[in-house]
Amino acid sequence: MRTHWGSKLGFIMATAGSAIGLGNIWRFPYLAGQYGGGIFLLMYLLCVAGLGYFMLVSKLAFGRAAQTNLVDGFQVVAAQNGKSASVLWRIFGGWLGFVNTLLVSSVYVVVIGWTAAYVAEGFALWTGLSDRAVDASLFSELTGSFGAQLFWGCLCIAVAVIILIKGVKKGIERASLYLMPVLFILLLFMVIWMMFLPGSGKGLVFFLKPDWSRAGFLPDGFHFSVLADLLLAALGQAIYSLSMGLGVIFTYGSYLTQDSNLKSSAKWIAGLDTMVAFLAGLIILPAVFAFGLEPGQGPALSFVSLPLIFSKMLGGTFLMLLFFILLFLAALTSLISIYEAAVSLMIDKFSISRTKATLVMAALNMIGSGLLLASFTRQIPITVGGQDLFSFLDRLTGSYTMSLMVFVCCLFMGWKVSTVIIRNIGQGSGVRQSRFFKRYLRFTLRITAPLVLLILFLSGLF
Ligand code: ALA
Repeated sequence: MRTHWGSKLGFIMATAGSAIGLGNIWRFPYLAGQYGGGIFLLMYLLCVAGLGYFMLVSKLAFGRAAQTNLVDGFQVVAAQNGKSASVLWRIFGGWLGFVNTLLVSSVYVVVIGWTAAYVAEGFALWTGLSDRAVDASLFSELTGSFGAQLFWGCLCIAVAVIILIKGVKKGIERASLYLMPVLFILLLFMVIWMMFLPGSGKGLVFFLKPDWSRAGFLPDGFHFSVLADLLLAALGQAIYSLSMGLGVIFTYGSYLTQDSNLKSSAKWIAGLDTMVAFLAGLIILPAVFAFGLEPGQGPALSFVSLPLIFSKMLGGTFLMLLFFILLFLAALTSLISIYEAAVSLMIDKFSISRTKATLVMAALNMIGSGLLLASFTRQIPITVGGQDLFSFLDRLTGSYTMSLMVFVCCLFMGWKVSTVIIRNIGQGSGVRQSRFFKRYLRFTLRITAPLVLLILFLSGLF
């Protein structure tokens, strides 16, 4: 018998916990910094409201209709529509999701390991156990050490394993019910603190007011390539942030009973996820401007600039500690969900226990992250196309393999089983579906989403 969530709130918190992660607090602010602030925010909101929400609710319905793992789900749901699913769907929609969980978790564990190391450093600074200068050397020392990064990464894996072994209801759901409110409280506290920072106004304007020149509307005319680049970055971020392309949303949907209201749950999940990204932007970008730093510096924004800012602020060491606890908690609930997608598949396909499946996943993850770190710190000379394995895999998953899997799933849901998906979304207490909603959903799954994903995929390729 399939396990089910204990409550609607538990399901929403666990799924929002999966969506809210490094993507919101680390990736979103630096992308907003790189792509012009307000205009990126606007495009991101359009992507989530116009596409992301509809893909999310459909993926949840796909999982709920299937009540099984992602690979078998294609066959089960196709049969509900009187059809059969060829092995290609199962490979490029199901097994690719499994491969993605292995690849993404290898990258994810490296970054979550950094956050754990920063929590420890923040704690040591705050309590006076350390008086080291918080400058760029902190990050370069950490990222230069294979042993330290592997240690922190393995520690994070161990925490995730302990929660996962307890199961869906007692492990994932219970942990999310405690961790998510703590995360929201920390986030609000930090936003309020940062709002009072002198000189933060310029950063607020940067983050909230769209600069249309960054969308290609330049004095010498309209440049489509600039707009396309912006849109693709925003959509890629929406897919990453909503945990698409990993089988996570499908798996969490498969633990739902048929009586819950999917539309309202998906609204909550997408809404909370977007709100956290927005609040993270409000914490980081105004502070970056207040201290005259460069907003477009990329991935180092949270790990290099922010600690530097904290070191110059009143109560800064405490804030640094809080910020990295926040980032750690957010990333932990996401890592758990990535594991769960793989664990659920392994339990069914290899007929092994949850404990064994979790441990196998952890072992594979350790090997994966270990290899990435060995290449990243140049312990072993593995590079692909001149890039170390860490950067290569981050790009491979972000630009190709996740969008390919979402592309395949959208085609399947839109062209093969849209009747089942729409019927399933309509089930549950108090759900109303207008004709417009159904048409828009079908059109999104059949045309808009695959087309945009194809462009995203090709743009990554070229
Ligand atoms: N959705 C997860 C994140 O945003 C993967 O980090």
